[in-house]
Amino acid sequence: MPLTGPKEMFEKAYKGGHAVGAFNVNNMEIIQGIMMAAEEEKAPLILQISSGARKYASQIYLMKLIEAALVEADLPVVVHLDHGADFDICKACIDGGFTSVMYDGSHLSFDENIKITKQVVDYAHDRGVWVEAELGRLAGIEEHVVSEENVYTEPDQAVEFVERSGCDSLAIAIGTSHGAYKFAGEPRLDFERLEKITKIMPDYPLVLHGSSSVPQEFVEMANQYGGDIPGAKGVPEDLLRKAATFGVCKINIDTDIRLAMTATIRKSFVDNPTVFDPRKYLGAARQAVKDMVQHKIKNVLGCSNQI
Ligand code: G3H
Ligand code: 13P
Ligand code: ZN
Repeated sequence: MPLTGPKEMFEKAYKGGHAVGAFNVNNMEIIQGIMMAAEEEKAPLILQISSGARKYASQIYLMKLIEAALVEADLPVVVHLDHGADFDICKACIDGGFTSVMYDGSHLSFDENIKITKQVVDYAHDRGVWVEAELGRLAGIEEHVVSEENVYTEPDQAVEFVERSGCDSLAIAIGTSHGAYKFAGEPRLDFERLEKITKIMPDYPLVLHGSSSVPQEFVEMANQYGGDIPGAKGVPEDLLRKAATFGVCKINIDTDIRLAMTATIRKSFVDNPTVFDPRKYLGAARQAVKDMVQHKIKNVLGCSNQI
């Protein structure tokens, strides 16, 4: 099946009150694990590639791996650029066959963010490619965006931003953040704000970055087998499920993939000290990614059987 754009899957998600998972991919095992889960669940899927992933594996390798995965797959798959830092990287991805790109100008002034987003939109729309933009800022580090604290999205500004830039979907800040340390105290998302945005922008697809749940089973497993990631905490699954019923159509998950792989590989090394065949521990890691993604699709995103 050829790659598709996100339009139809978001329309369906919005109406159905579910969300599509956008999973970061960096190598073959991750792509295979995610694809196996989505195929079994008959779920729409977004595979996203960051600039870090492009540097690590190269765009062409990742695209060819995804092309291989699609040969026998029978589900809609989007390939999306995650956190594009400038026009040039967005252009390179559009020219390279991505069906969706994110331009992330969240660190810029409102007007500058609109200006470059619009430049990307003009180029992308001429070629039938979807554009996600970001307004507001998530705490944490995201390659070119480093923020000490959350700058929540202002609903009125969101409307103006979308009108002036022409972006197709908008990533908003309501309390999530990137990485494995999302909340010092009780996890909380600003649902009042989200509801306001949804009310003044009906039917408009919203995106939630920083949406890993940081499953404690993986944190504990990693720590038990030599890791040192104490106190890691993510977004509770029920909050993500609720966000999907308020116009959030795309939920971004990367950290949980990293944790699943790392915990599994750490355990595998300790349990099997004589084994040195990478297929053994990478195979186990791939299975852990599959199981974790399948759980998300079924129980958190609610997008099983939505193709
Ligand atoms: O939000 C960003 C993703 O977790 C990608 O991270 O830039 O290290 O690939 P990365
Ligand atoms: P997590 O770090 O919560 O997985 O967020 C990933 C993300 O937002 C990718 O853009
Ligand atoms: Zn992100």
